[in-house]
Amino acid sequence: MGRLDGKVAVITGGASGIGAATARLFIDEGARVLIADLQAEVAAALAAELGPGAASVGCNVAREPEVKAAINAAADRWGRLDILFNNAGFGGVCGPLDETQVEEYDLTMDVLLKGVFLGIKHASPIMKAQGSGSIINTASICAFEAGFGNQLYTVAKAAIVMLTKAASLEMAEYNVRVNAVCPGYIATPLAAGRPYSMAPAEKVEAAVDRLRGRNQDTQPLARSGEGRDIANMALFLASDDSEWVTGQAMVVDGGLLAGRPWRKLAPWITQHQDTLLYRPPAD
Ligand SMILES: NC(=O)c1ccc[n+]([C@@H]2O[C@H](COP(=O)([O-])OP(=O)(O)OC[C@H]3O[C@@H](n4cnc5c(N)ncnc54)[C@H](O)[C@@H]3O)[C@@H](O)[C@H]2O)c1
Repeated sequence: MGRLDGKVAVITGGASGIGAATARLFIDEGARVLIADLQAEVAAALAAELGPGAASVGCNVAREPEVKAAINAAADRWGRLDILFNNAGFGGVCGPLDETQVEEYDLTMDVLLKGVFLGIKHASPIMKAQGSGSIINTASICAFEAGFGNQLYTVAKAAIVMLTKAASLEMAEYNVRVNAVCPGYIATPLAAGRPYSMAPAEKVEAAVDRLRGRNQDTQPLARSGEGRDIANMALFLASDDSEWVTGQAMVVDGGLLAGRPWRKLAPWITQHQDTLLYRPPAD
């Protein structure tokens, strides 16, 4: 028996990286999944690979009619909507704030933040009427400490965490839960660099592999984050295992926010253990 048997999910940004890993896991756990992504052809190919429980639609999450149509397509096709994973995103505009154009600001906020708002806006009437549902928003460790990503990306991800909390309060009385997942460094085309998202598959894989190498020693748990690490948290938040969890921002980062990987960065701690550690006197 799957942990999502009978449930219907929409995953934005489901054609690649974290979203694609989640689509695969949700299907394995018995859900029916609509993949909504800007890359319509890649989304369609993944849906075809995943079988009859999956479908896809081209969708730009920054455009309200497209978000509404995607959510309604899933509800019309399968008769309900249990899970919305607001996950689509890109790296945001990079560079100094004084050189950032207003159009670049708008693009970053429209995709990363407005896209999440639009998902919540159009899923909530269905979920409220149903009396159940789980909305999961992809934020980031950037929400908690500046410097892990570029400036506007960081602002958008912090706002997603507060939007999650605010929405969770509104929806709790309808038994609709709203949580965020906050990934650390995950080996995906996004993290390998913006141009790679649309590049040929071999180039993307090579870039993601280089990134894996770079990520390896960044956090206390010394391996790169993978899409499946975030998919596993999304599964918990989507399933009834988390039925009493709402308004939370779940960090999945290999320990990065806990502090420095001290065995590497502060070797004196282990080298001088005898003098640093208190030992009771021998009898
Ligand atoms: N990779 C990381 O290290 C990392 C860390 C923290 C948070 N995140 C977040 O995770 C989410 C997924 O990113 P990923 O790492 O899997 O990247 P990815 O590039 O592999 O996947 C992102 C997907 O979103 C789609 N997309 C982009 N803009 C869109 C739009 N306007 N409308 C619809 N779809 C759109 C892309 O086509 C792509 O399929 C993003 O919100 C990202 O900010 C990633």
